[in-house]
Amino acid sequence: MYFQQFYLTCLSHASYMLGSEGVAAMVDPQRDVSLYVDEAAAQGLKIEYIIETHLHADFVSGHRELAERTGAKIYLGARAGATFPHVDARDGDEIRFGRVVLRFLETPGHTIESVSVAVTDLDRRETPYAVLTGDTLFIGDVGRPDLSPDLTPQQLAGMLFDSLHRKLLPLGDDVEVYPAHGAGSLCGKQMRPERQSTIGKERALNYALRPASKDEFVRLLTAELPERPGYFALDAEINRSGAPALTEMKPIPELTAEQIPPGAIVLDTRPSPQFFAGHIPGAVHIALAGQYASFAATILGLEKHIVLVAEDEEHLQESRLRLARVGIERVIGSLKGGMPQWTGPVAEIHQVSAEDLRREMADIQIVDVRREAEFADGHIEGAKLMPLHKLESLISTLDHDRPIAVHCKGGYRSAIGCSLIQRAGYENVMNVIGGFDAWRACGLPESKSAAVPTPSHSASSGVPSEAIPGASGV
Ligand SMILES: [Fe+2]
Repeated sequence: MYFQQFYLTCLSHASYMLGSEGVAAMVDPQRDVSLYVDEAAAQGLKIEYIIETHLHADFVSGHRELAERTGAKIYLGARAGATFPHVDARDGDEIRFGRVVLRFLETPGHTIESVSVAVTDLDRRETPYAVLTGDTLFIGDVGRPDLSPDLTPQQLAGMLFDSLHRKLLPLGDDVEVYPAHGAGSLCGKQMRPERQSTIGKERALNYALRPASKDEFVRLLTAELPERPGYFALDAEINRSGAPALTEMKPIPELTAEQIPPGAIVLDTRPSPQFFAGHIPGAVHIALAGQYASFAATILGLEKHIVLVAEDEEHLQESRLRLARVGIERVIGSLKGGMPQWTGPVAEIHQVSAEDLRREMADIQIVDVRREAEFADGHIEGAKLMPLHKLESLISTLDHDRPIAVHCKGGYRSAIGCSLIQRAGYENVMNVIGGFDAWRACGLPESKSAAVPTPSHSASSGVPSEAIPGASGV
């Protein structure tokens, strides 16, 4: 049989194509589906089945467009309440094509409708050799149980325990494990970087599979839940009805300075050094690197009208596609000619080295935009903890009359933070080159006291993890 994993690094998302004797099934497709259509054609396969392991909350799936383009049937857990034409998948249901048998296992826990798919290749043996676990079982972790509007994390964690111990572990230690997400995903918190595992390896290494009672498991899983990004519920709803096809999206209009509507967010996706050197005053900066789209959805939400500033046409299209993958579709234009043709006022952000900051810090407000746990592990004495996902609600506590130096771990999040603070009307904002990593590398003093509590805020939002293998300058 043919088996292929497609890994989308910017969303830490894995999708899978399985084929045999001219027929293919696609599991958990990403929003832009042309790569699957092309791959199937290259392999001489016709995609006849599309499987969603659950209603994804962290990205918009391409199941509906792929079905429209291929004529394939969509299979989804019966409890999803999906509103597009689909087949309800129930425990024990099977799809057979060629030498492949796909058997559905209802594995609620991450979400109520979650299913896993046991894969049998009859050319290898009569029993499953692999299982596609969706967000039920990750490599090193399990799916977070706190995304339901109706069920408590405790209820879902209890179901997850049963799903793991009654459905997945009994498949056998040699069965290969292929999840829907890898390290860096917001759907789990401590995944390992590998892209495949086995049931036996997870039994040995995965903290969530250590021997424990159900009650202990529920306590463990619900003890320190990361905050839930506000767009998660919206993405799940988009997936419940099926997103419109990307091919229906119109070209992005080019706008001159005068044509940018006052209420629109100018989103500058160029590399940070370019943004720092000169940008449109008030622009939000999220560099098209690392987990750009997750940060954009977390900070901007899905509803705002956005005007993109990109390096060039190729990066402009990439900027828009990545936004669409998380459900941001209101890109109303791009800056005509990019910054080289911008003739209006230009704002800058200066950079400061860790050593210069150390020398001058008596007069400077230092803003640390990392997460609480990172701050607790070591921070600059006197720095204000303002995690990026809470920053906008905390900016007003800063003093307008003193310079502000912003840092994170490596520089990716602080660049975003600088743009948000400057946008809020603060004039003297600096980015700390290399972030806390640079501070530490210089051997400068750090404090390890407990996290300073930040003022509470009402928005239920999370922020992408900083620990993203391959992400640049986080
Ligand atoms: Fe998920």
